[in-house]
This record gives sequence, C-alpha cells and structure tokens, in this order.
Amino acid sequence: MKRVILIGFMGSGKSTLGKKIASRLNVPFIDSDKEIETHFNKTIGEIFVENGESHFREIESNFISSLIDKEKFVLATGGGMPCFGKNMDELNDLGITFYLERSPKELANRLIQAKEHRPLIDGMEYEELVSFIENKLGQREEFYKKAAFVLNREEQTPEAIANIMTLLQPEALQKN
Ligand code: S3P
Repeated sequence: MKRVILIGFMGSGKSTLGKKIASRLNVPFIDSDKEIETHFNKTIGEIFVENGESHFREIESNFISSLIDKEKFVLATGGGMPCFGKNMDELNDLGITFYLERSPKELANRLIQAKEHRPLIDGMEYEELVSFIENKLGQREEFYKKAAFVLNREEQTPEAIANIMTLLQPEALQKN
C-alpha cells in the first residue's frame, strides 16, 4: 500500500511537497481542495459563501470515503479536514499520515504572500493573521498530532518522506 497523506495548517506547504513525493514514489497526486472544486465546478470560496462552512466539511468527509478504492496516492488535505468529525481517524485508517508542523509566524509569512483565495483568512492584515493562526492552531493541534509522523521544518523533505515510505513497505520490513 502506498498512500501518503499530508496534513497541516493552511500554508504549511502540503501541495508543493505532495507533488514532489508523488513523483518520487511514482504515484498519483491528489489535492482535496482541487478535487472538490472540480467536482462541484465551484471554488472553495464559493462553496463557503453559497452553502456555508459546515456543508464544505460534509463534502470533505465524503471525499475521504471516496478514496477507499484507490490503492496508491499522495494526498494533500485541506487544512481543516482532519479536525472535523472522525476525519482524522479515517485518514489514519486510509494511509500513512504526516503532519507538516510549522510555527504561526512562519505560516503567517507564507500566507501573507500567497495569491490563493482562502475564505477563512481573506483580507486579514499580518498581526490579525498571526493571532488567528495561533488561536486556530491551538484548537487544531490535538487532531494534527494524531498523525503517524509529525515532521518539523527540516524533516519536511520529499527524501525524508519517501524514505519513511520505503521503510514501511512490507518487503523492507522483512529484511530487518
Ligand atoms: C481550510 C484550508 C484550505 C481549504 C479551506 C479551509 C481550513 O485548504 O480547505 O479554505 O479550514 O484550514 P489549504 O490548507 O490547502 O489552504
């Protein structure tokens, strides 16, 4: 089984890293936000405005269930996905989860430069963004930390994750 699942706050770099790991492991890359946008032909922002956040969270839960038939992939989840309902347990059942840990200031620095539209933080100035992240991260960390691997900034490399995945393959385990 080669299912890698990257979780972490908005701006932690899940998609960028996910694409690199997928090409290294030679498996498809899936970005949950992009899949949802394509499926509903709406941006995440539009779903939030038209149907509300709780509807978006339902869509995310259904999305996890839809992955059960896929054998190999690297998934970059939306930042909030692991933190609602039983999603984190389901993600752990589905594959090997990696939490990309980053500090609130680092996340704020990355997000302030991002051009992507993110409904939860739209229009925030830097200071407001830092306190929003500190607060949200405080609520979300208990979910994120249920990941099989918690990676600090230096450990967030395609090589590190690909190596862990190689070690987790049954053939590799048998050699030890
Ligand atoms: C969200 C993160 C976003 C997206 C939505 C809500 C969150 O994904 O799913 O805007 O609640 O943290 P990214 O983490 O890819 O930005």
